[in-house]
Amino acid sequence: MSHRTAVKYFFCKLLPPRATFMQDMTAEEAKFMQAHAAYWHEHLARGNAVAFVCRSEALTLAAVRALQDRGMTTDRIYTTLERNMKCGIGFCGHCQFGPTFMCKEGPVYRFDSVERIFAIREL
Ligand code: FES
Repeated sequence: MSHRTAVKYFFCKLLPPRATFMQDMTAEEAKFMQAHAAYWHEHLARGNAVAFVCRSEALTLAAVRALQDRGMTTDRIYTTLERNMKCGIGFCGHCQFGPTFMCKEGPVYRFDSVERIFAIREL
């Protein structure tokens, strides 16, 4: 009896083999990248893909917009937020981001729960 189970989650991060990869990928590498994009689009179309975005707030917003342009809804996007923490128990307010305290409720959020806060400049 096999104990193998289907893989439910895939972690994808582009770690290019060289800094100039996007400019000078070989035909074989381009073919692999196209196959990867096709795989990704297939799961997006089926609605069974989620994305995890961990960047600066500006880059997170750009990545979320790019994902939305490809049909992903914000309830399927997760992100991390960063603030300096001090007490770590929700007392000092150092980690407050809008109505949320990252030390207690984060730092990982479903994007639709923080999207409204992201829209506020200089917060
Ligand atoms: S670190 Fe003090 S409230 Fe979160």
